[in-house]
Amino acid sequence: MPVAPHVGMRLGGVAGDRYELVRRLGNGVFGVAWEAVDHHEQQVVALKLLDPRIKPDRVLLEAQLQRRLSEHPRIVSIMNVELGANPSSFVALEFVRAGSLQSVLDARRPTVLESVRWIRDVLEALDHTHQEGVLHRDVKPSNLLLGPDGHAMLTDFGVAEDSVHKLLPDPGMYPAHNSARVWSCADECPDGPMARRGLGMAAPSRHSARSR
Ligand SMILES: Nc1ncnc2c1ncn2[C@@H]1O[C@H](COP(=O)(O)OP(=O)(O)OP(=O)(O)O)[C@@H](O)[C@H]1O
Ligand SMILES: [Mg+2]
Repeated sequence: MPVAPHVGMRLGGVAGDRYELVRRLGNGVFGVAWEAVDHHEQQVVALKLLDPRIKPDRVLLEAQLQRRLSEHPRIVSIMNVELGANPSSFVALEFVRAGSLQSVLDARRPTVLESVRWIRDVLEALDHTHQEGVLHRDVKPSNLLLGPDGHAMLTDFGVAEDSVHKLLPDPGMYPAHNSARVWSCADECPDGPMARRGLGMAAPSRHSARSR
């Protein structure tokens, strides 16, 4: 039986000792995130230990999409993915020290300046993501991490979809209620999860504008 992840545990790499777990960051739907030291590269990373029920194809797609997009400064970089590691497959990501927007919102109300900056950051990240044909589909405060410069960075492409242009040759053709569903309403809608947390998007998307 695999040993439960714990502080000090080593995993990954050829000898299974490349990464050392330092601190548990939090639980997600798809696994548990840890702060870890990468002893090969001598740097701190975030390791997402993945639920064994997640299909390898899905893990590889997440890694591939995030790698393709992560040259953008508002998107968290992915460093490594290992399938079948003990105790579980994992993804190694750039460690973004200041935590998530969710943790800020849990602690206090953001200033207007912060809100405007973060909304702009998200829109820049999504603009890049959409231009690459990718739909993130899970934009929410816990998937926005705060970099050392105080800017928000988008992460977690665990349910993202590729080739949206192929899926939706012309999103404008869809009736408003359908398009909102197809686009998950997560990325752009003013009544999506970001807005509900007091970070409403400045400009309504064409879908939501039509649905009024
Ligand atoms: N690259 C990272 N750097 C620093 N902290 C991170 C990083 N990635 C994730 N975290 C932290 O780990 C926690 C868990 O992340 P995870 O994505 O697994 O779950 P979630 O976003 O809370 O939920 P969900 O699975 O629904 O996305 C988050 O709250 C976040 O603060
Ligand atoms: Mg997440």
